[in-house]
Amino acid sequence: MKLGVNIDHIATVRQARMTYEPDPVKGALIAQDAGADQITFHLREDRRHIQDEDVFRLRCSIKRIPLNMEMAPTEEMKSIAMEVKPERVTLVPEKRQEITTEGGLDVVSLKDYLKRYVSQLKDEGISVALFIDPEIEQIDASVYVGVDAIELHTGEYANAETEKRKIEELERIKKASVYAKDKNLKVFAGHGLTYTNVQPVAAIPEIEELNIGHSIISNAIFLGLDEAVRKMKKLMMEARKNI
Ligand code: PXP
Repeated sequence: MKLGVNIDHIATVRQARMTYEPDPVKGALIAQDAGADQITFHLREDRRHIQDEDVFRLRCSIKRIPLNMEMAPTEEMKSIAMEVKPERVTLVPEKRQEITTEGGLDVVSLKDYLKRYVSQLKDEGISVALFIDPEIEQIDASVYVGVDAIELHTGEYANAETEKRKIEELERIKKASVYAKDKNLKVFAGHGLTYTNVQPVAAIPEIEELNIGHSIISNAIFLGLDEAVRKMKKLMMEARKNI
């Protein structure tokens, strides 16, 4: 199982003062050395954390592991992605007022637009994933769009307020994972995962990769980034051993 470390919130701290530190590229290099299998970042339309310059510096600095660029399916982002050529683009919905990505992309409503959009990225040799809610109709629409992979939104699971809701959400993620894998899609997951809730998701055999940001960067304040990444990877691997 692979860990994609999302470095956005290193840039959030930097942007709070509009200064040069902490540098998300330095963070990406530390995460790489600590065992991250991928560096994930979200270039948002409002540039609230990662800046265009960071993206180009990441491309020059991160050589050993792939880059996963999360972005809204806009024309502006497509042209940046085509210039940067990350190994993967993950298409996410974006609303300016949201604190973080709320819910998955509505692939069902956008499927013809996305089919054209995705084929242009794939023509450039970029693998494409869609960030979706764990719903069968979104998976079917993703197959129609022609992506290589889906990333299941684990936010509902992470934010569930009762044990019963948490178990229901985990079941939904499991069912969606089996269904998607059966349709020959690679299955990834992420959002809201922490040291305490990661293991049940990591134990789902169909899920190959988790993308985790906020919790790792938060813990890095106390543990250091190297240790914060290693701890997450260790928990994931432990969960994996038992399947
Ligand atoms: N995956 C996707 C597609 C995301 O948009 C995000 C948030 O940027 C994450 C994973 C990571 O979420 P978190 O920061 O809550 O770990």
